[in-house]
Amino acid sequence: MRVIKTVSDMSAEAERLRREGKRISFVPTMGNLHEGHLSLMRTAKPLADVLVISIFVNPLQFEPGSDFDAYPRTFQEDLEKCEPVGVDIVFAPVESDLYPEGFQTTVEVKEVSKGLCGDFRPGHFKGVATVVLKLFNIVKPHVAVFGEKDYQQLCVIRRMVKDLNLDIEIVGHPTVREPDGLAMSSRNQYLSPDERKRAALLYKFLQEAKALFDKGERRAQRLTAMVQNGLARDPRISVEYVSIRDRDTLKPLDTLDRPAVMALAVHIGKTRLIDNIFLG
Ligand code: PAF
Repeated sequence: MRVIKTVSDMSAEAERLRREGKRISFVPTMGNLHEGHLSLMRTAKPLADVLVISIFVNPLQFEPGSDFDAYPRTFQEDLEKCEPVGVDIVFAPVESDLYPEGFQTTVEVKEVSKGLCGDFRPGHFKGVATVVLKLFNIVKPHVAVFGEKDYQQLCVIRRMVKDLNLDIEIVGHPTVREPDGLAMSSRNQYLSPDERKRAALLYKFLQEAKALFDKGERRAQRLTAMVQNGLARDPRISVEYVSIRDRDTLKPLDTLDRPAVMALAVHIGKTRLIDNIFLG
């Protein structure tokens, strides 16, 4: 496993691999790796000849006053986790190399970035789209794998790839969960033991909504109200949104007459958690 730290070295290596006819798969991350990331890497590994992952805490996607400085940087531990899953190259650029002085171009995926987390994290998806496009241009992957836990992010990336004619296959990976159903996330480590127990309610209510849907309920309002009210009964959980959207466009749905996703965001204490479930 090689660690490449500069944009020029990574770009030259990707160029060389492509000239040799090698396929490149790619998993972008912000580090602080957990089992969810590792399973994206295991999925990406057999899709190509060379697996590249990136570790970069992207300042552009943290809205002002959010947890950019507090985001855990665990580079050495991350490297130890990458090797056994077969990562070939870890690309870990520094901020001044990725965003040199004078940098001023951003990518905005307009409609898909609106609503859901987009309403509560202004500028977040612009930051994500911009860094992912830059990483794609440097790593030059044939295929890239993203988790479905960040479902809006996955839709933003898919839309960007389509709109900008990027020749990259985007693979969505099902959310990896703890035994009690909590979606794996770097943020889970911020939960106190009491909060951690309550966090299992998110998936419990999403599953209840799915059970109601499977029994025939098609009114979005009924399903979201059931989840919203259920979560609101816990005084430590503050619901940011519960919403049912078209699974491709993320447009709000009143009636579930096509493949849909129910997505939610809550705060438990100081920690913001998101999750979702497919309906239909
Ligand atoms: O999902 C993440 O970890 C980040 O948003 C990503 C895709 C690595 C971009 O910084």
